[in-house]
Amino acid sequence: MAHRVTVYEVGPRDGLQNEARTVPTADKLALIGALAAAGLRRIEASSFVSPRWIPQLADAAEVTAALPAVDGTSYVVLVPNAKGLDRLAVALARAGEGHPPVEAAVFLSASETHNRKNLNRTVAETLGELEALVPAALARGLRVRGYVSTVWGCPYEGPVDPGRAAEIVERLLALGCHQVSLGDTIGVGTPNQTRRILGLLRARARPEQIALHMHDTRGTALANVLAGLEEGVTTFDASIGGLGGCPYAPGASGNLATEDLVYMLDGMGLETGVDFRKLVAAGALAQRLVGRTLPGKALQAELAR
Ligand code: HMG
Ligand code: MG
Repeated sequence: MAHRVTVYEVGPRDGLQNEARTVPTADKLALIGALAAAGLRRIEASSFVSPRWIPQLADAAEVTAALPAVDGTSYVVLVPNAKGLDRLAVALARAGEGHPPVEAAVFLSASETHNRKNLNRTVAETLGELEALVPAALARGLRVRGYVSTVWGCPYEGPVDPGRAAEIVERLLALGCHQVSLGDTIGVGTPNQTRRILGLLRARARPEQIALHMHDTRGTALANVLAGLEEGVTTFDASIGGLGGCPYAPGASGNLATEDLVYMLDGMGLETGVDFRKLVAAGALAQRLVGRTLPGKALQAELAR
């Protein structure tokens, strides 16, 4: 098992895309600042998708242009297509010199129906678009992360053949993605399934090329993280306070809460570089900004002390 683990924070994107209340741009930036101050070094900040599809993140350009420069911290934004990449390039040009590093993340699903609902394309059509989009992003000097959703199950189709995810991961890596994050979009996964999926990928990807992105809908996210750690995975996605979900996946709830993940990793003696106290302060801020009690268990336990 690796000694050092990367906690990849998705709250400002995956969390806020799903909130009924749209958080003002300045408050999003305050939350991102608090997350960086807690020691998170990879933060998914926003999404250059259609503002008609995700109005909560319509200010992606403003957020990206004003990201706080913190030593060692880089940011990621979702980019679904060429139009999203152009919008990102304009935002970065506006930000100018001294801006912190930003990378692009592309995404698609292992199941057809979720891909159609989420991207209005078949899986083959999206892969066709990514064959141009990923090289175009790389040519602009951006690193690119890939996401495969519905790996553990689809809200419309039920169980998904893990072989489909394995093939898509291989395609994304061949296109030049430096890492592919496997999404349990609706939080149905259990550890034996996780071992099976990672086993299929062993011959196709190095451990650092794979991340796990577990939604905690059924409380199995940490169990899957433990299975992932035992299989050599070193990057885990998580969301402050357990914010999140996918608006095009009915029943999806928040991601694994960052505080729950860091609490477990700290207890196991694994290094994350994250300051748990400051993380709890960021969780309290997230809770104030969205105006509801967040599901993160460690956050609630700490706030009740
Ligand atoms: P579409 O309607 O098929 O788009 O949507 P289109 O290409 O036909 O264009 C239609 C209109 O949208 C045009 O405008 C385009 O200019 C505009 P019009 O001419 O009609 O005025 N448009 C855009 N505007 C701004 N930015 C863009 C953009 N692209 C087109 N990038 C599209 C296709 C991809 C845009 C749409 O399906 C979309 O935005 N989908 C995103 C859905 C989404 O964000 N889902 C959540 C993120 S994925 C997730 O949460 C899962 C993950 O966390 C992992 C996991 O948990 O599994 C990553
Ligand atoms: Mg997600």
